[in-house]
Amino acid sequence: MKHKDLLGLYTLEAEEIGEILSLAAKMKALVRAGQKSLDSLKGRSAVTLFYENSTRTRTSFEFAAKFLGASTVNISVATSSVQKGETLVDTGKTLDAMHTDFIVMRHPMGGAPTLLGKTVKAHVINAGDGMNEHPTQALLDMLSMLEAWGTLEGKTVAILGDIRHSRVAKSNLYGLTKMGATVRMFAPRTLMPAGLDCMGAKICRSREEAVEGADAVMGLRIQLERQKAGNFPSLGEYAKYYGVNEDILRLAKEGALVLHPGPVNRGVELTSGVIDGETSVITDQVLSGVAVRMAVLQLLGEEEIC
Ligand code: NCD
Repeated sequence: MKHKDLLGLYTLEAEEIGEILSLAAKMKALVRAGQKSLDSLKGRSAVTLFYENSTRTRTSFEFAAKFLGASTVNISVATSSVQKGETLVDTGKTLDAMHTDFIVMRHPMGGAPTLLGKTVKAHVINAGDGMNEHPTQALLDMLSMLEAWGTLEGKTVAILGDIRHSRVAKSNLYGLTKMGATVRMFAPRTLMPAGLDCMGAKICRSREEAVEGADAVMGLRIQLERQKAGNFPSLGEYAKYYGVNEDILRLAKEGALVLHPGPVNRGVELTSGVIDGETSVITDQVLSGVAVRMAVLQLLGEEEIC
């Protein structure tokens, strides 16, 4: 990789995405085979610095670093000096002074990892910044699709849910279109930001239009923590008029994959039948997450930046 940090997929080239995905596929096979004590990052240290809640992203980054032999520390922002008023840059300098090699960071403000990356020597990996990007989530989504199809080129992925507040939607749009896929998007108009068509998305007027003939259907969580009331009447109403149920899913290509980054609001963006259906790869996405994060740590770690 040509970069010191992984901040988003907007700035990556297709070749770089391909390089990460091909190493991640190998890592996934190793983890599946029970090989979880590699030593390519032995002697390195990784800190996870999360200013927002997380289960799978933080755990999988920690496992990924450990599986490669690095030592890891979690900073719980709720009990750190951040609560005493320390700035992000000062927190970064403190971690640098401890010769931290990787800082994996999640923050409610878009752009925070970019700022940190400019001020620290450590490799910064964006684990989700506000409504901006969540690059490793989109990479793991792509890995699960790639494993099922062998290619992303020419495939159609329908993304439905709270697109406005979703960093996952944006990273997937940038990544998938660079890899030759078509991205359709559908959300209630109040949850669809302007301008994504200029970034290559095909904006649909109904869930039927989005899902019809698609190779994969991705549901996104309604991000109640990022929005004011008033975007839709109630979660029940959302599920009824905008959610994906078995009838809607039948419009997709036979065998179409079902994805969701989690955490899922069961019965809201996707029904339980869809979440647990035969073509759902939601559980596989979790393993892809460990593999992609191993690949990213490995590729950033082996790069000598002058
Ligand atoms: C996503 C996130 O945090 O942006 N989740 C995740 O990383 N697994 C999506 C979400 O929170 O809805």
